[in-house]
Amino acid sequence: MINAPTTQTITLTRPDDWHIHLRDGAALQTVVPHTAAQFARAIVMPNLKPPVTTAAQATSYKARIQAAIPVGMRFEPLMTLYLTDNTPPDEIARAKGAGVVALKLYPAGATTNSDAGVTDIRKTYKTLEAMQKSGLLLLVHGEVTSPEIDLFDREAAFIDQHLIPLRKDFPELTIVMEHITTKEAADYVAGEAASKTGKLTLGATITAQHLLYNRNAIFTGGVRPHYYCLPVLKRETHRLALLEAATSGNPAFFLGTDSAPHAAHLKEHAVGCAGCYTAHAAMELYAAAFDSVGKMDKLEGFASFFGADFYGLPRNTGTITLKREAWTAPESFAFGEALLKPLAGGEQLAWRFI
Ligand code: DOR
Ligand code: ZN
Repeated sequence: MINAPTTQTITLTRPDDWHIHLRDGAALQTVVPHTAAQFARAIVMPNLKPPVTTAAQATSYKARIQAAIPVGMRFEPLMTLYLTDNTPPDEIARAKGAGVVALKLYPAGATTNSDAGVTDIRKTYKTLEAMQKSGLLLLVHGEVTSPEIDLFDREAAFIDQHLIPLRKDFPELTIVMEHITTKEAADYVAGEAASKTGKLTLGATITAQHLLYNRNAIFTGGVRPHYYCLPVLKRETHRLALLEAATSGNPAFFLGTDSAPHAAHLKEHAVGCAGCYTAHAAMELYAAAFDSVGKMDKLEGFASFFGADFYGLPRNTGTITLKREAWTAPESFAFGEALLKPLAGGEQLAWRFI
């Protein structure tokens, strides 16, 4: 990273987004250019309707994403499959052959388009064995779904009830706990990394919204649906623990925006969809978070190195530059026939991607 003496501009190795929702069809025209402008690669979530469950589906979805990359931009979508109770173990070899890098575990009912998700992790054990052997990663949405567990406690409960037993049963399986939101998750991932010699087998992505906001943001002056995502924003102590983890230089923590576009009218709704859209200004939002604690020097590791190292992929070679210059993010974008309202739309941001 090159820091100008006044830290008015910062140049970083081109970053990657290790967790993104790009959707399909007309939506790709809006969201792919935003992500491709800032990131060299992104791990593309498979929760389409119907979900991407086979290598063949991932290959054709990848081609549709590539067709939406603007001419002259270079961007590589890294594909994932949606793990179900019935994913056959022999799909793993086909997935590996097709360049798929990971499978995503959604507990059934945990979030958007998760109806086909896993009802009991034990049902997937043969497939997890095949993944462990072939080196495909397991990405987890780490929340229990039991209605008797409070919404704000579901991530911590997932660690105790599912993640710890899973890691005992599959010690060589490489797992990413996606979009962590709690001190419990940050402490668990950091503790596992500290006790490990050699290659890390547990990492975590952290979103910009969980570094910048606590749960008050959802309720300031009324219900604010554009701050609602899953796992939901938590209280301030958790935000501070995540900020500490992200800026610590610990390679187990890396960037994953979880940018999740929904038509605005479906978020501003009696039963509003979960998901914050941040791809339009992803690096600007992360820069604001790192700058808030004087840790701009730690942004490059988090955004550009640690994810690639964790996935065993080469680091990128190009660079991007951010400048300290106030600008106002658009309030909305066209999104097929609808509108897409980004997080912090219409608000002033202190850093600008140039
Ligand atoms: O807020 C979220 N939105 N969390 C998820 O896990 C899924 C995502 C989506 O696909 O909209
Ligand atoms: Zn997600």
